[in-house]
Amino acid sequence: MTTEKPLAGKVAVVTGAGRGIGKAIALGFAAAGASVGCGARTAVELTQTVGDIEAAGGRALAVVGDVAEETAVFQLINQTAAAFGGLDILVINAGMSPAKTAVADSNPADWQRTLEVNLLGAYHCTRAAIPHLQARGGGKIITVGSGLGHRGLAGGSAYAVSKAGLWMFTRVLAQELWPDNISVNELIPGPVDTAMTSTGPSNPDSVASISGEWMKQPKDVVPLALFLATQPTIGPTAQSFSLMRRDWA
Ligand SMILES: NC(=O)c1ccc[n+]([C@@H]2O[C@H](COP(=O)([O-])OP(=O)(O)OC[C@H]3O[C@@H](n4cnc5c(N)ncnc54)[C@H](OP(=O)(O)O)[C@@H]3O)[C@@H](O)[C@H]2O)c1
Repeated sequence: MTTEKPLAGKVAVVTGAGRGIGKAIALGFAAAGASVGCGARTAVELTQTVGDIEAAGGRALAVVGDVAEETAVFQLINQTAAAFGGLDILVINAGMSPAKTAVADSNPADWQRTLEVNLLGAYHCTRAAIPHLQARGGGKIITVGSGLGHRGLAGGSAYAVSKAGLWMFTRVLAQELWPDNISVNELIPGPVDTAMTSTGPSNPDSVASISGEWMKQPKDVVPLALFLATQPTIGPTAQSFSLMRRDWA
């Protein structure tokens, strides 16, 4: 029986690693042996994530920045690759969800900001990561999507559109990157108890918006993220993997 950790020797970047799902994935990947570059805007939360990883014997680095800003994203990716000797896995997790509002009543600035963080941020992360993944001869990109990006929800246009775009981005990227042995898959967590969903029914992705769903803790998402990060090179790409109990479309 091998005792080697499944991500031993791997380097990962997790965006939005300061709390919630991203923090759980960063801790889970570090426990599995990866060195982890952790990104978010709130320094105190990132420091805590890195402290938790190091206290458990892992290796991590905090890089504060906004994923909507190209320069900040390149700093996160490049500093991580420089510190740990390359990059194998990118988890595009940072995201936001504005309060539920009908299009007619919505604020254009909120709408634009949601697209900038959830979709343009993914674009910046990917562009920064591709040369590093290519230099390794392959890798994994995991986009954290939402069931709302597949089925939509009245009042959740900005969020649903941003996640629908992310799902299309996932599939296009997978086609572009398969010759480089880089797989790109979407992870849909379904409702998870985090700061994002603590706003209750006003949040389009909260459990209160979808009756009968499985409300998870962030750690419940880690096994699927690990599964996607450890698939063989010939494994799945351009696929969506969901933890939702059923398809509510
Ligand atoms: N929770 C759910 O039920 C659920 C369901 C489906 C999908 N998701 C998706 O899962 C992902 C994580 O959500 P969560 O529930 O864990 O949310 P969360 O607890 O609010 O955590 C979000 C993380 O992303 C970071 N972040 C937000 N905006 C950012 C920005 N502009 N630049 C850099 N980092 C940013 C946050 O840190 P800062 O604010 O400090 O930057 C935080 O670390 C999101 O993409 C979300 O859409 C969540």
